[in-house]
Amino acid sequence: MMNSQEIRNAFIDFFQEKDHRFIRSSPVVPIDDPTLLFTNAGMNQFKPIFLGQQEAEHLRVVNSQKCIRVSGKHNDLEEVGLDTFHHTFFEMLGNWSFGDYYKAEAIQWAWELFTEVWGLDKNRLWATVYNDDEEAFQLWPKVTDIDSSRVLKFDKKDNFWEMGETGPCGPCSEIHYFIGEDLNKQRSESVNVSDQYWELWNLVFIQNNRMEDGSLTDLPAKHVDTGAGFERIVSVLQNKTSNYATDLFMPIIQKVENLTGKSYQDNPVPFQVISDHIRMLSFSIADGGMPGNEGRGYVLRRILRRAARFGRMLDQHQPFIYNLIDIVGEIMGDIFPEVVEKRAHIEKVVKAEESSFNDTLDRGLIHFDKVLKNVSGNKISGVEAFRLYDTYGFPLDLTQLMAREKGLDVDEKGYIAEMDQQKKRAKASGKFVAEVDELKWKHVSKGKDSDFKGYETLSTDSQIRRYTNQNDQILVILDKTPFYAESGGQIGDTGTIKGNDVELVVEDVTNNGGTSIHYCQGTIDEKVKGKVQCLVDVDRRQNIRKNHTATHLMHQALKLILGDHVHQAGSLVHPDYLRFDLTHFEKLTAEQIREIETMVNREILLNNALDISVKNFDEAKKQGAVAMFGEKYGDEVRVVTVADFSMELCGGTHVERTGDIGLFKITEESSLASGVRRIVAVTGPKAVEYIQEQAAALGNIQSQLNSGIEQVSERIDQLLAQKKKIEKELKRQKKSGTAFNAKSLVQKAKLVGDQSIVIQMTDAGSMDELKGYGDSLLTVLKSGVGVLGAEAEKPLVVIVVSQDLVKRGVNAGDLAGLIGNEMGGGGGGKAHLATAGGQDAKGLKSAMAKSLGIIKKVIQE
Ligand code: ALA
Repeated sequence: MMNSQEIRNAFIDFFQEKDHRFIRSSPVVPIDDPTLLFTNAGMNQFKPIFLGQQEAEHLRVVNSQKCIRVSGKHNDLEEVGLDTFHHTFFEMLGNWSFGDYYKAEAIQWAWELFTEVWGLDKNRLWATVYNDDEEAFQLWPKVTDIDSSRVLKFDKKDNFWEMGETGPCGPCSEIHYFIGEDLNKQRSESVNVSDQYWELWNLVFIQNNRMEDGSLTDLPAKHVDTGAGFERIVSVLQNKTSNYATDLFMPIIQKVENLTGKSYQDNPVPFQVISDHIRMLSFSIADGGMPGNEGRGYVLRRILRRAARFGRMLDQHQPFIYNLIDIVGEIMGDIFPEVVEKRAHIEKVVKAEESSFNDTLDRGLIHFDKVLKNVSGNKISGVEAFRLYDTYGFPLDLTQLMAREKGLDVDEKGYIAEMDQQKKRAKASGKFVAEVDELKWKHVSKGKDSDFKGYETLSTDSQIRRYTNQNDQILVILDKTPFYAESGGQIGDTGTIKGNDVELVVEDVTNNGGTSIHYCQGTIDEKVKGKVQCLVDVDRRQNIRKNHTATHLMHQALKLILGDHVHQAGSLVHPDYLRFDLTHFEKLTAEQIREIETMVNREILLNNALDISVKNFDEAKKQGAVAMFGEKYGDEVRVVTVADFSMELCGGTHVERTGDIGLFKITEESSLASGVRRIVAVTGPKAVEYIQEQAAALGNIQSQLNSGIEQVSERIDQLLAQKKKIEKELKRQKKSGTAFNAKSLVQKAKLVGDQSIVIQMTDAGSMDELKGYGDSLLTVLKSGVGVLGAEAEKPLVVIVVSQDLVKRGVNAGDLAGLIGNEMGGGGGGKAHLATAGGQDAKGLKSAMAKSLGIIKKVIQE
C-alpha cells in the first residue's frame, strides 16, 4: 500500500513524464491580494495566464496546491468534521494546459492514472459532463474504456466550474468514486446526491471569463485546469472510507488520544474537527496569517474557536491544540517545509489564542444552555446569537453548529442586523474583484508590455500600449518602463512621462498580474501616437533603494539577535522610512534595539558590494536564501546577497554597496498584534536629520536645565522628585481645607484682659512648617500669646509671645517647658518663639486643652 507521500509523488511523476513542469504550491494566504481571502484552488496562481495578461513560461504544469475553503464561493465549513471527506484545508493535485492540449488528453490521462497506474476499480468510477458539452460526452467512451452507461450529464450547478463571482470559468467533467461495499447497489441517480459517491477529480475546460455584469466572454485561448482531492485519493488508495483513517490524519488523531486520554472511536466528531482545523491553522499561520477581528484574521480566529469548543467536549480546559503542530509538520514537511520552519511561531500564536478564548468559553457554554432553555420555537434569536458573539466570543458559525446539534436554527438575519448596528466590520470577501480587468482601455499600439528596465536605468524611451481614465487619473500601460511597480513591500516609483501629445506626472505604479499600471495626472491627446520619454524621480528612488537594502540587513540582524523564530510578517519600503513587521512575542529592549542598530551600521561601514543574481529557486533555498511569507516565486528567482551576511529572494531595487545607505537608525518599536511587533527606521539623509533633531532637542533641555549632558538625567530625577514632593504637599493642603490664616485666628482669639490668646491645632506637616505658622501669627498678634499644635511625624507645639509681653517678662521658652511637660515630653526656645514635642496624640490633645490655664497663670503672675 502506498503512503501519502508516494501517492503525491506518483501524481507529479505521471505528469512530469508527459512534459509537465512542476510548480510549487503558492501560499495559502495570499498576503498581497486583498480581493482573495484564501487560495481556494490550484488555478488561483495561474489566473493572469488564463486571462491573457501573462504569458505562461511552460505550457504544461503540474502541482499540489495548499487550499482553504471556508469562505466565499467555495465554502465547505458546514460539513467539516461531521462527514469524513470535506476539509477546511486540503491539497489539490492538478495538471494544467495553457492553450496547449485540451479535453481529449485531460480525460484520457486522468483515466489512465486512475485505472492503469493506480488500478482503481472501473466498476466504481463514474464520469460526469456538462449538459451542453456534447464534445466531452462523446470523448469519454472514445478515449477511455469506460462503460458508456457510466457517463452522465448534469447542469450548470454541478458541471460548470467558476472560481468566484468573476473570473475564468468553463464546463467541467468530474470523476466520482463509489465507496460503498456492495457494487450492485450503485445507481446513476445517486451520483452528485449520495455521500457514498466521492468526487475525486474535476477536469475544467477553461474557456470563458465571467464579467461583473454576469455575462460570459470568450478567453483568448482554451485551457485545462484540473483539481484532484488528494486526501480522498489517498483514502481510496489506502482502502479506507474516511480521509481521517489515512496516514495524513491518523498520527494527529493518535496524538489527540494521547493528550486527552479519550478515544477517537467514542468521539469521532471532536477528533475530526480538531485534526482538520489544526492543519488549516498551521498552514495559514506559516504563510503569514494571524488571528484577528477582521477579514482573514477573523476566519483563523473562528476556526480556532471551533476547535477549542470541541476540545471542551474532550474535557480539555487548558490550551492543548498547539501541541499538534509538530505532527502536522512531520506528516507534510517533505513537500511543505514551512510548518517545520515556523513551528515555534505557530505554536505561540495558537497557544495565545487558545488561552484567550478559554477565558470566556466556559461562561459562554453556560449562557448557551440558558439560551436553549428559553428558546421559543426552533430558532435562536439574532439578539442571542449576537450576544454569544459579542460577550463570549462565539463566532456565528459555532453557534449555528451547536444549535444544529440540538436540532435548532439561528436567526442569521437578526444576527446580521445586530452586528450592523454595533459596527461595520471590514468585509473582505472571497470574491475576486478584478477592477483593472474590467476597464475600457484605449489601445494605442500592439505588442508585449510592461518590460521592466528600472534595475539598470531610470529613464527610457517608451511606447504607450494603452491608457484609460479612472477617478480623475489617467492609467497608462507602456511597452517598457523604468518605473518600479509596487510589490514586495516596495512602494511604486513616481516621475514623469512626456511626449508630443503627452504630459503626465506618475503618482503611483501597481503590478496587475505582470502588467505595470502607471497612475498619472496630466493630459494625453486623443490622437496620441504614443512615443514618450519616461523619467523616474531619481532622489526618491535612491532613498527607496537605501531603505530596501537596510530592510534586508535589519531582517538578518533581527534573526541573529532575537532568534530564528523571527520572520517578516509585513514590510513597507518608502522613500522616507522603512517599516517592518516581525513575528516576535515581546517588546524589544533598549539594549536589543541598540545591538540591532550597531549590527546594521557595521554592515554599512563594511561597504560590501551587493550581489544580485538570478538563480534556480531550489538552489537558492538550499544556499539559505530567505523567502517571504505569502510571496509567490517562480522557478527562477532573483537573489539579493550582501556578502556572507544576508541572502533574500527579492525583486526590489537595492543600493550598489552597503555604504550607500549611509546611516541606519530605528525610530519606533511597537506592538502590532499578538505575536507581531512593528519597527520603523530611517536611513541616509533622513537618519542624519533624525539624529540632528534629537540632538537639538537634547541641547534645548541641557540649556534649560543648565547642566552638562552627563548630568541631565540626574537633574531631571531631582526635578521630578521635587515635583512629586510638592504635589504631595499640595494634595495634603487641599485635603485639610484652608491654608493657615493667622488673621482670622487673632480675630477669634480668647481675651485674657487685653491679651489675645490663640490656641489652635493646625495641619502643619513638620516643625519647620509649624514654626512658619508661628512667625506669621506673630506678625498679626499685637499683644498676646499663641499656641499652635500639629500632628506631624510626632506631636508638636509652637508657642509665640508678642514683643510687649516679652518685655513684661513672659517667656515663650518657659511656656514651652510647661506645655511640653503636659505632653509627656519637653520644650524650650527663645523668648518670643519656642517649641515643644510630645509622645502621642492623646498627650497633645490634653496639653492643648490645658494651655489656656497655663498661659493665664503665667500672664497674671
Ligand atoms: N479549479 C477546479 C476546482 O477547483 C479544478 O475544482
